[in-house]
Amino acid sequence: MSHQPIILGIETSCDDTAAAVVAGGQLLANSVSTQLEHEKWGGVVPEIASRAHERQIVPVVNDALAKAGIDRADIDAVAVTVGPGLIGSLLVGVSFAKALCLGLDRPLIAVNHLDGHLASLYLAPSPPPWPHLCLIVSGGHTQLMRVDGPGETTLLGRTRDDAAGEAFDKVGKLLGLSYPAGPQVDRLAREGDPTFHAFPRTRLKGYDWSFSGIKTSVLYYLNALPETERSGFAARHLSDLCASFQEAVVDMLVAPVKKAMQDTGIRHVGLVGGVSANTRLRERLGELCTTQRGALYVPPMEYCMDNAAMIAMAGLHRFQSGQTSPLTVSADPSLTLT
Ligand code: KG4
Ligand code: ZN
Repeated sequence: MSHQPIILGIETSCDDTAAAVVAGGQLLANSVSTQLEHEKWGGVVPEIASRAHERQIVPVVNDALAKAGIDRADIDAVAVTVGPGLIGSLLVGVSFAKALCLGLDRPLIAVNHLDGHLASLYLAPSPPPWPHLCLIVSGGHTQLMRVDGPGETTLLGRTRDDAAGEAFDKVGKLLGLSYPAGPQVDRLAREGDPTFHAFPRTRLKGYDWSFSGIKTSVLYYLNALPETERSGFAARHLSDLCASFQEAVVDMLVAPVKKAMQDTGIRHVGLVGGVSANTRLRERLGELCTTQRGALYVPPMEYCMDNAAMIAMAGLHRFQSGQTSPLTVSADPSLTLT
């Protein structure tokens, strides 16, 4: 085995077919094929996703190996997302990774997708020290973790219903935006007035969240207008509505992080997952960390959304501590991070 372990990472948990190569902690290649087939349906269609992964997996892995300038035989281990995610999508990546491991006689490393998001911080030039807190905010998850080392996590808080990204996507849809609406809401909100309307902020005890209330309140707010005026009003005030909604979600996201910083005394905070790309959330968490004399850590923009570089990095951490997985490991759509 080489002194610089070479890990191939594979990620197919949702609608991105992705492969990446890391060697000794350096990212050599990162390939992704984003499925555009889902846009017209307003969300990810599981059956369409599985079929697209099946078509894309070989070209995407070959592309990553070619970009890294390595041969299949150079790989020391294959890291793959085993969950959580869509079962049909996960199975394509997991089966492919197992076959590759069998063919090459190399170990498999099963990676929890959320552990992958945590590892995305280690793709940045200055990653956080341990212990740190990490807010995972994506289309499927919203949770606050305490991270004491690679794979050493404690769940502090989670959403009881919708994920933050899901709230962005659903409210965006109500406002006439296409899927995924999060990046568009972010962009439009920059020109809007965040005080245009005060949507209610749901605040639960402890570190948990609930985002179903804000989604309903946007719906009721629009439905209170006469039907003939609704779409005209939403279009005229689109940026104000985006800014007001976003401000409420960001207020809600920041509160438990502040409480956890105060309760644990941990001053280093990571922000990962698709919603970590949000400009206002980065700004507000940055301000919080400054006032608490701490520091905010975010992955480079291209590793906020689902990618395989983070899976390869999480796999490297496991490989270095000797944690490989049997080839009998199964994809688990409801795998959790506790
Ligand atoms: O982590 P990710 O790529 O996939 C999941 O594991 O869910 O996250 C995708 C989610 C979508 O809900 C998308 O709307 C949201 O992240 N998102 C954003 C932004 N960029 C992506 N939400 C708010 N602001 C953004 N800039
Ligand atoms: Zn994700």
